[in-house]
Amino acid sequence: MTFKRRQFLAAATAAAVLPRTGRAATDIPAIEARPGRVRLVPPDLGDYPETEVWGFDGGVPGPLIRAQQGDVLRRRLRNSLPQPTAVHWHGLRIPNTMDGVPGMTQDPVRPGEEFLYELPLKDAGTYWYHSHNQSTEQVARGLYGVIVVDEAEPPEADQDIVVVLDDWRLSEQAQITNDFGAMHDWTHAGRLGNFTHAKMSPQPAALGQNQRVRLRIVNVATDRIMAVSLRGLTGKIAARDGMPLETPEDPGVMIFGPAERIDVIADITAAPGEPVQLILHERDTGYLLWEAGVTHIHAKSPRGPVAPLPANPITRLTDVAGARSVPLNMEGGAMGGLREGRYKGKLMNTRELVEAGQIWTFNGEAGLPAQPLVTAGRGEVIRIPMRNNTAFAHAMHLHGTHFQEVLPDGGLGPLKDTLLVSPGETREIAFAADNPGDWLLHCHMLSHQAAGMKTRLRVT
Ligand code: C2O
Ligand code: CU
Repeated sequence: MTFKRRQFLAAATAAAVLPRTGRAATDIPAIEARPGRVRLVPPDLGDYPETEVWGFDGGVPGPLIRAQQGDVLRRRLRNSLPQPTAVHWHGLRIPNTMDGVPGMTQDPVRPGEEFLYELPLKDAGTYWYHSHNQSTEQVARGLYGVIVVDEAEPPEADQDIVVVLDDWRLSEQAQITNDFGAMHDWTHAGRLGNFTHAKMSPQPAALGQNQRVRLRIVNVATDRIMAVSLRGLTGKIAARDGMPLETPEDPGVMIFGPAERIDVIADITAAPGEPVQLILHERDTGYLLWEAGVTHIHAKSPRGPVAPLPANPITRLTDVAGARSVPLNMEGGAMGGLREGRYKGKLMNTRELVEAGQIWTFNGEAGLPAQPLVTAGRGEVIRIPMRNNTAFAHAMHLHGTHFQEVLPDGGLGPLKDTLLVSPGETREIAFAADNPGDWLLHCHMLSHQAAGMKTRLRVT
């Protein structure tokens, strides 16, 4: 906004006589969850109308939030939806009361109400925000956006572009189908769509050979796992789930469970006239998600190797040998052979569970249990071997802190906040309990989460 000088003076005078609290509230930018209309299906796919969505500030994705590491991000969430909502700031290590989980860390924000989020940004990297209330519907309707937290000294890049991967289930008229909560979806791989796209923000400027680009790829789909690769550039994966890798990795085909992020830093190798492409791999075919032609030669030679990003101020574990282990066993779903499970304290058979909309269990319990899976002391290291005893993959997400995978050789993997666990696998995570409160651990296939796959951890 630009003020005319006279307005600015008037505002300054008014502020001087107002009580401090009154002033603070209006100073804080709002973010409004509301219905909107966006052009989802591009014109080259046919003559489709705009799609009615729910979006932050009415857009999909919502506004790209960009801030500096060490800052405090403040947003007043205003709810102009016909349903209660709340915003979860996925991957940010923030105080528990700011985590945005209705019924656990805050009350749902009802239509017409506001909630003030204050988020200290400890870590640089690529994060995202999304509704955490009735999320199978609200995220599917478009309530998400990306947060970029810049390093004090960001690495050199000519372009820095957010790439949002999403999967939509659209009608013939390009409208979001109203079939949220369909049991067949919930018992299988979730609510999979029929239209997948990659949205760039900002739109890339003209691409030149030997330009360095930083791509921040985020899978915001409610349930779909996406496998993507890049053509026409060569580089490294510099960060996963926001956190820098100690040793950058070759990208190849990158697999994204719902909520996973990857930062790629790469140099354009394609020559003028050749395309740079983002390809979605499904079964044995590739689909073009995005492409743009290289228009010029940016530099005679590439920039050279991609250096690791500066580490974030989170402690990496070095040894988890003596740590307490709390196993988590996932069961249920179609072809899972689930016989019974507890729900709201009651032992139910499969038919009763399905009637309650609950078909997945963690350690025999569906839905959010009253008792935490584990109560950890401050500083305690906890290991959770997660055994996937179901016929489907699950993208396990921990709130409040990042974890590391305990690898089969005893080594520790990179810091992550979401980990894809395939059917039949056991994958073990470990983390230092350093953020007090009750935190969710759930499957980020939002259909699975709604149908039972969630538990809580307590840090005292
Ligand atoms: Cu991104 Cu509990 O979620
Ligand atoms: Cu799942």
